Amino acid sequence: MKIAVLMGGPSSEREVSLKSGTAVYKALIELGHDAIQIDLDLKTIVEKLKDFSPDVVFNALHGKPGEDGSVQGLLELMGIPYTGSGILASALTIDKIVTKEFLKQAGIPTPEFLSCTAAQYKKDKEKIQKQIINKLGLPVVIKAPTQGSTIGVYIVRQAGEELAAAIENALKYESRFMAEAYLDGPEITAPVIGNDQPQVLPLIEIVSHTGFYDYEAKYTPGLSEHIIPPRLPEVVISQINSLARQAYTIAGCRGFARIDFIVAQGQYPNIIEINSVPGMTATSLVPDAARAAGLDFPALVQKIIDLALNPETFTFFS
Ligand SMILES: Nc1ncnc2c1ncn2[C@@H]1O[C@H](COP(=O)(O)OP(=O)(O)O)[C@@H](O)[C@H]1O
Ligand SMILES: [Mg+2]
Repeated sequence: MKIAVLMGGPSSEREVSLKSGTAVYKALIELGHDAIQIDLDLKTIVEKLKDFSPDVVFNALHGKPGEDGSVQGLLELMGIPYTGSGILASALTIDKIVTKEFLKQAGIPTPEFLSCTAAQYKKDKEKIQKQIINKLGLPVVIKAPTQGSTIGVYIVRQAGEELAAAIENALKYESRFMAEAYLDGPEITAPVIGNDQPQVLPLIEIVSHTGFYDYEAKYTPGLSEHIIPPRLPEVVISQINSLARQAYTIAGCRGFARIDFIVAQGQYPNIIEINSVPGMTATSLVPDAARAAGLDFPALVQKIIDLALNPETFTFFS
């Protein structure tokens, strides 16, 4: 098959995407496909895709644009099938605030939160800081809602200057921020694969040696560990599996995704976010879980492509 791997681009997660894209490209070559790598350049992307005319695009773009529905829209207009979620699920899950509103409506547990625009915050900073502390307590997590790789995420332990600085930093990325209750408990990620009948791959417990699972812990070998299966009771594991499947389905995800949880007090699973284009380097979480399920990296890549080409489930403008 002719497969174009879309990677890189201008997002804040460019470097990670280049790594995912390179790993996927190598796997495609190993599988015998006619593959090329395309570093997303907004000026030349249409021409490059027209020239190569791929049977399918492997979307390895993390962040915006690429994980947000924009590139999916372009590919649909060009009539090119692509891996992963469609426009709506991508646009929904890129935004942590919208995702949480959606989960709440469906009765899926997600930590308490507040969201605020830059304009609202500027009007009365102290009042909003007070509201955050009164509703969510301390520590509290401040997030830029559409970033990834822990960019724009701050764990705040003290009111006053520390909280103000975190909010100002989050607002450097976009014009709104969210504040979320800090949950104490193990961090678990649920890789999900499939279209209409999604399957949860083995869950992974993430242990970070930097205090929290920040950019450094995610991408520096040795700074975090993946524990499969998580050290949790069977009943909690099965709750996480079921919540992951539900969240994937109601968000309308396709192909694959990774759903991040924190299990408050080791008992109460809460979803913190859904990643529609999770990391795909050979040592990333989803490939690790797939390996534990007996699917090596090239087999995983092929499976994701097969799901994109499944005529039953690939629908334009879905
Ligand atoms: N509510 C929370 N309570 C405790 N830790 C959190 C919370 N939200 C995020 N974190 C920590 O911050 C990390 C990044 O947050 P997340 O919402 O997953 O954003 P990203 O898209 O950057 O991965 C998580 O992996 C976790 O370690
Ligand atoms: Mg995350």
